[in-house]
This record gives sequence, C-alpha cells and structure tokens, in this order.
Amino acid sequence: MIFTVAIDGPAAAGKGTISKAVAAHFGFAHLDTGLLYRAVGAKVLNGQDPLDAAETLTARDLEATNLRTPDVAQAASKVAVVKEVRAALVAFQRSFAARSGGAVLDGRDIGTVICPTAHAKLFVTASAQTRATRRHAELQASGISDSFEQVLADVKARDERDTNRAEAPMIAAADAVTLDTSGLSIDEAVAQAIAIIERSRSSAL
Ligand code: DC
Repeated sequence: MIFTVAIDGPAAAGKGTISKAVAAHFGFAHLDTGLLYRAVGAKVLNGQDPLDAAETLTARDLEATNLRTPDVAQAASKVAVVKEVRAALVAFQRSFAARSGGAVLDGRDIGTVICPTAHAKLFVTASAQTRATRRHAELQASGISDSFEQVLADVKARDERDTNRAEAPMIAAADAVTLDTSGLSIDEAVAQAIAIIERSRSSAL
C-alpha cells in the first residue's frame, strides 16, 4: 500500500511533532526533509560547496549533532534557495514517499513539488510570535541562550527567504488543508491532523 502524507509549513509551526505523531498513529514511515537541507547547510558551514554537499549527502550526515542549531537553520534556508541543490535532493524524497506501507514527509514544498499527488496534504502554520515562543523554549532547553527577539528575527528571516525564493517557494498547495496551531495544544493539533488524514484515507480506500 502506497499512501503519502505531505505536511508543509513554516519553521516551528509544529510540523515535526505532528508528522511524527501522525506517522506513529498510522504506522507510516516519516521523513523530516528539513534535515536534508540542514545537513547540506552544515557541510557548507564547514567549507564545502553547496551542490557538492547535496550530491554527496549520506545517511551519516543526517546524524550530525549540530543540525538543530540556529546557525545551521539559517544555512539550510540559504542553500535551499539554490535550484541545483534542491534538484539533487528530489529523487531521495520521492522514493521515500513511494515506499510501501505509507509515508509522511514534512517540509516546505512536499505538497507542491515533491509529491503533488500526495493522498493527504496539510499546511501547518502558526503566528510568528507563537512559533518564536516555542522555538525559544526549545533552544533554551537545549542550552542555547539566544534572546526571544533574536529567535523571532531568525524565524521571520527564514519565513521571508523560504516564501520569496524563485524555486519551490513555501506555499500551501491548492488542495492542502491548513491547520493553524496557534491556539492549540500538541494533543489537539495532532488529533486534528489525524482527522484530516483519516478523511483522505477513507476516500482513497
Ligand atoms: O523544516 P526545517 O526548519 O528543519 O528546515 C530548514 C530549512 O530547510 C528551511 O528554512 C528551508 C529548507 N527546507 C526547504 O527548503 N524545503 C524543504 N522541503 C524542507 C526544508
């Protein structure tokens, strides 16, 4: 059974948490595609050429311990603007999406470019203030002491770059269901996402 769930949206909207929970609920595999761009960004920060970094990406690169840092997040957003970098990562994402047993992919362009025929599409969003508050708490918990203002500025800079790039910009697919998590608890957001996917699953079966 091939069943692909595309979950897109801006940084810290809750995509990752929702995607993991949804994948666990349905027994699907999960791919955080942001991690691919983060791994390329981390290699570029180490001096590698962006395209070379993307073309030679290995599973091991995805295990680097610094991938969740603010510097790597910005580097990821910068390399993600490069058309050839994106092209180098397409095949891996599409073959993951088509694996048997079901797959959830989260990112920025899954429902629009990587899997335009996905069986279920969500666009998970939240206000910039809410997202920065969540990201700030996460960073504090992992020992990174950036101020709230810095985190908010970083979130907005990434939104701006990810939305306004020419290649595969972050945008909700026309047939995606938007889920605004601003006023929702994690459990509420996950329950709503599962209900949306359940509806698509009933019509696909
Ligand atoms: O989801 P994330 O915050 O880990 O993503 C890091 C950056 O990678 C994001 O700012 C833009 C880029 N990205 C992308 O362009 N396309 C994707 N499908 C996933 C991430």
